Amino acid sequence: MSTPATGLVLDGIDFAYGGARALNGVSLAVPTGGVVALLGSNGAGKSTTAKVIAGALRPAKGTIVFNGEAIAGLPSHQVMRRGVVLVPEGRLVFAQMTIQDNLMMGAYKENRSARVAELLEQNYARFPRLKERRHQLAGSLSGGEQQMLAIARGLMAEPRLLVLDEPSLGIMPKLVQEIFALIRRIAEQGVSILLIEQNARASLELAGYAYVLEKGRIILQGEGTRLLADAFVQNAYLGTDA
Ligand SMILES: Nc1ncnc2c1ncn2[C@@H]1O[C@H](COP(=O)(O)OP(=O)(O)OP(=O)(O)O)[C@@H](O)[C@H]1O
Ligand SMILES: [Mg+2]
Repeated sequence: MSTPATGLVLDGIDFAYGGARALNGVSLAVPTGGVVALLGSNGAGKSTTAKVIAGALRPAKGTIVFNGEAIAGLPSHQVMRRGVVLVPEGRLVFAQMTIQDNLMMGAYKENRSARVAELLEQNYARFPRLKERRHQLAGSLSGGEQQMLAIARGLMAEPRLLVLDEPSLGIMPKLVQEIFALIRRIAEQGVSILLIEQNARASLELAGYAYVLEKGRIILQGEGTRLLADAFVQNAYLGTDA
């Protein structure tokens, strides 16, 4: 893949937890407006990559450039201000707060209340189920609904790039389809997406381009449709029905 002029570019990222190497020369790109999948099995380094991008972890080596600006090592609130928003693995909604208050927290950088109200309406239009239940506690939502809330909260920050860490994990199949359809719509509205997933089939159908991470290294990359047809990916990630 040629390096895009805009969007996100990671080049040669190393990261270790203490002495334990988690990322080894990871290079990847998410072009503006693109949906890019990052696949890999448990412990491959997907969440570490997400955290390095979001500024929660500082890489030992390598560069991260977003729309021409070097962002590696910036604190996470600075990275967010530039439009890079992470929806972390495991959702992490505030169970004891209402759905609406959870959403409002996403709009942390917006201090004009009229704009916050507009963003709320935009997201309620995307997620009618959240609107119906906006005054209930987030903890009362199902796992899949909490995932939608986490994505909606990320969108309240008006991202240019949304990093989704395993949005389909532990969610029943019917809602998984809904979440993937939603991700497609978000991308169509111009938000670039880095989709971190173990659900390889659904992500490859959605993503223009994909990377496979194993033990902290990118071992394979290509167009989503090409990886869907790839024998290695079929064996390792798509099960026997591929
Ligand atoms: N806080 C931590 N301290 C030490 N080691 C860690 C820490 N977090 C992750 N690791 C290790 O780093 C490696 C990569 O972990 P990471 O969470 O990035 O994988 P992942 O691809 O997101 O896996 P999963 O699919 O299970 O979420 C693993 O070997 C993991 O055990
Ligand atoms: Mg993870």
